[in-house]
Amino acid sequence: MSQTLNIRRAAGALGAELSGVDLSRTLPDATVAAIRQALVEHQVIFFRDQTLTPAQQVAFGARFGPLNIHPYVAGMAGQPEVMEIIKEPADRINFGGGWHSDMSFLETPAIGSILYALEIPEFGGDTLFASQAAAYDALSDGLKATLETLSAVHSASKEYSSTGASAKKRTSMSVAEADGYVGEYVHPMVLVHPETGRKALYVNPAFTLRIDGWKPRESKALLDYLFEHCRHEGFTCRFAWARGSVAFWDNRSVWHFALNDYAGHRRHMRRVTVDPWPHAVRAEVAA
Ligand code: SIN
Repeated sequence: MSQTLNIRRAAGALGAELSGVDLSRTLPDATVAAIRQALVEHQVIFFRDQTLTPAQQVAFGARFGPLNIHPYVAGMAGQPEVMEIIKEPADRINFGGGWHSDMSFLETPAIGSILYALEIPEFGGDTLFASQAAAYDALSDGLKATLETLSAVHSASKEYSSTGASAKKRTSMSVAEADGYVGEYVHPMVLVHPETGRKALYVNPAFTLRIDGWKPRESKALLDYLFEHCRHEGFTCRFAWARGSVAFWDNRSVWHFALNDYAGHRRHMRRVTVDPWPHAVRAEVAA
């Protein structure tokens, strides 16, 4: 029997808080389907007052797809799918402190990320989310039509190379440097969501290098415009964490930004990241 989910929208563009479910339990298929439906509809969903061991977080995440093992950020010993996202009181920079979606630097980007809060600073440390479906909707028909013909090149090099944003700056997490060739992957600039059919912009300030086939200056001008447009406050919602909160976002249509406004305090989260089902499994589910 499925548990009764209550859904309360958090903002106009995206976000909803779900209650009435204990994520540490083995959930009935119908409840998992209702959570997935809420995720694709609201783009980011939130849960409160959960208690999850790493194994329970893995078990919950695995109901939505295979779990990703991050190529650069070390996972927990014995539980490599779980990334510990920690900022110690003495750290200056935080993980995820800029607008991005997760893992677009891979050939097959992650579809979702599930973040669980273990320790929250006394103040600050909220996460912002921005709907890239709303950002797409707000464009003119002319620019929409142009973007639908374009693809962009994504790579880990911008963030994880020895000169990238993460290099040697973080002490509380083990982040490897992506030295040498890390690969460049081309993704459409407008994604059609495979579950809802809704279109969303798919460019990423952290990982998009350039528009495929364009000169760097041409590419920079349009990407800069889109990066600015995509974070307009009307497309956003803001989540204030408490211990035991969980956020589950859809990387196909959402950017997020971890605010770094709690100097001198500790913040400790755990994330699992959901990959798409392989084609064969998708076909079986659809049949
Ligand atoms: C992330 O970018 O996955 C981290 C988000 C957060 O810590 O709020």
